[in-house]
Amino acid sequence: MTARDNCFVTRRLPGAALERLAAAHDVTVWPGELPPSAADLRTGVGDAEGLLCLLTDGVDAAVLDAAPRLRVISNFAVGCDNIDVAAATARGIPVGVTPDVLTDATADLSLALLLAAARRLPEAAAAVRAGAWRTWEPARWLGLELRDAELAIVGPGRIGCAVAKRAAAFGMRVHLVGRGDDLLAALATADAVSLHLPLSAATRHLIDERALRTMRPSAVLVNTGRGALIDQRALRRALVEGWIAAAALDVTEPEPLPPNDPLLEAPNLLVLPHIGSATVAARERMADRAVDNLIAGLAGEPLPYPAAPPAG
Ligand code: DGY
Repeated sequence: MTARDNCFVTRRLPGAALERLAAAHDVTVWPGELPPSAADLRTGVGDAEGLLCLLTDGVDAAVLDAAPRLRVISNFAVGCDNIDVAAATARGIPVGVTPDVLTDATADLSLALLLAAARRLPEAAAAVRAGAWRTWEPARWLGLELRDAELAIVGPGRIGCAVAKRAAAFGMRVHLVGRGDDLLAALATADAVSLHLPLSAATRHLIDERALRTMRPSAVLVNTGRGALIDQRALRRALVEGWIAAAALDVTEPEPLPPNDPLLEAPNLLVLPHIGSATVAARERMADRAVDNLIAGLAGEPLPYPAAPPAG
């Protein structure tokens, strides 16, 4: 019989994956509905060989220093910008993620946001609630038709390509914008822009004032990647001053976005609470992959779904 290791899991997860983990190892699940504080996280990993964490948990060098026995980190997310992967790698600790299983859910939500921004759903729905629906109006609430519109997909990875397929079904002209492509040139002609990049030092605030001023005044911006891909102060001005027509965001900086954040004053903006992967199927499969990574790492095997190695 193989030894049972200690695993710290930073939140209850949907599905039965944690039962599978508990059958093989000793599992402590953080009981709160909110994330553990940095201090609680350091305490939680104190005697843990395995850590299963969420994108809300900052796993930095201080956490790793507090975890002398840690042998594997498994993130319940495909992104891992919450983890200092270089510091973990330097300590010989592999990091796992949950790719593929949330691709369709996140691509579906990207299309929902694209349609909402293109057809001005936030403003139209708000008008109904505010008693501002006067009559059927020939020239009010006019938006962007998707057929023949140009969609720039910035970051044509798994999710970006799944969005491209869906957009093509709507008759959009899809422009995949990869690392070597001219981003500003793509933004200048796009009717819609959808962001699907991982967050890194190189992509932080990629969509800044210059990028937003390059976009067409009729263009819409969608972000289901990470909030910090966009400079939100510049985005607020872009929306209020009409540099672009609308934005729809599933991710913000910070998360949660405080309800009094000035960005929320823009009427042509939709913000969702980071629900791209929030389908029953996707979240259960994410939990399975996260547990697969943890069990493999504790057994000294290669992780089935490893994070990309740190850049540089
Ligand atoms: C991820 O997995 O990185 C998403 O942002 C949440 O599912």
